[in-house]
Amino acid sequence: MSQIKTVSVIGAGGKMGMRISANLQRSDYQMFYCESAPQGQQRVAAEGREISDANSVVPLSDVVILAVPDIVLGKVSESVVPQMKSGAILLTLDPAAAYANLIAQRADIEYAVAHPCHPSVFLERYTKEEHADAFGGVAALQHVAAAYEAGSAEQKAELSNVIKVMYGPVEQVHWVTVTQLAYLEPTLVETVACMVGAFMKEALDETVKHSGVPEEAAKAMLYGHIQIALAVAFRATNPFSDACMIAMEYGREKIVKPDWKQIFDQKELDIVIARMLKIDAIRR
Ligand SMILES: NC(=O)c1ccc[n+]([C@@H]2O[C@H](COP(=O)([O-])OP(=O)(O)OC[C@H]3O[C@@H](n4cnc5c(N)ncnc54)[C@H](O)[C@@H]3O)[C@@H](O)[C@H]2O)c1
Repeated sequence: MSQIKTVSVIGAGGKMGMRISANLQRSDYQMFYCESAPQGQQRVAAEGREISDANSVVPLSDVVILAVPDIVLGKVSESVVPQMKSGAILLTLDPAAAYANLIAQRADIEYAVAHPCHPSVFLERYTKEEHADAFGGVAALQHVAAAYEAGSAEQKAELSNVIKVMYGPVEQVHWVTVTQLAYLEPTLVETVACMVGAFMKEALDETVKHSGVPEEAAKAMLYGHIQIALAVAFRATNPFSDACMIAMEYGREKIVKPDWKQIFDQKELDIVIARMLKIDAIRR
C-alpha cells in the first residue's frame, strides 16, 4: 500500500504550480495548495482549488513540492523544512538550488528533484491536443529526469507515482544524481539546446534583414531544415550530403569555439549555476 497519501504544493499559483496542481487535483492524493502572492492565490481559486496555510498543512504532508522560484528556494526551504514530518519528502523541480546546497537540511527528511523532459521532438503525436502540448503535462507523452539519491528502489517507485501524476502523461522517470541532473539542465538543454534554438531565430531574422528574402520563405526553409537536420543528426534517417558537410564544417569553424566542451568541466557548471541563482559562488 502506498505510503504517500498527502501532498502539498508550495507556490501553487506560479507557472509550474498551476500545471502540476491541475494534474494532482484529479489524483487520489489528498492535496493542499499554498501560495503567498494575491494574484497567484486568485489563479488557484479560479481553478476551484482552495488555498491552505503552509504552517498548517506542511506538517501533515508526505510530500512537499516547492514550486517557488529557484532564487528563493533556499529561503522558503528554511521555513518549510523544520515543519515537515519525519520521513517526508521535499521535492523540488529544478536541480540548481540542490546542486548549490542552498536547500535547508534535516537528517530525517528525504530530498528529491524531478524535472520534466518535455515531449520529444520525435514523439509520434496523433491528436490535436498532443500537437498543441509543447510543454508536456497535458496530452503529449514525456519523460522525466529525477534525482533521489538516498531513496531505495521502493521509495523511488512510490515517488515515481507522484511524479507521473504531476507531469503526466509520463512514459518513464529516469533516475540520476543531482549533479547529473544539473549536467542535463542547465548544461545540455539550456546552455546548449535552448541557446541554439534562440540562435537559429536570430539567424532567421538576420537572413531576412540581410538578404531581403521574404520572411515566409526563410521560415519555410528553416523550419523544414530544422526537422531534417535533427532527423539526420539524431536518427541517421539519411546522411547529410557531401556539400552540406562542407558547409557544416565551415559553420563550426566560424561559430563554435574549439574549446566549447569546457562547459562540461564541473567548475563551469558551478559558474553557470551560481549565475542562475544570482549568488557569488555555489556552496560545497
Ligand atoms: N517555468 C518553467 O518552465 C519550469 C520548468 C521546469 C522547472 N521549473 C522549476 O519550477 C520551479 C518554479 O518555477 P516557476 O517558473 O513555476 O516560478 P513562478 O515564478 O512562475 O512561480 C512561483 C510561485 O511561487 C510563489 N511563491 C514564492 N514564494 C512563496 C512562498 N514562500 N510560499 C508560497 N508561494 C510562494 C510565487 O508567488 C509564485 O506564484 C523552479 O524551481 C523552476 O526552476 C520551471
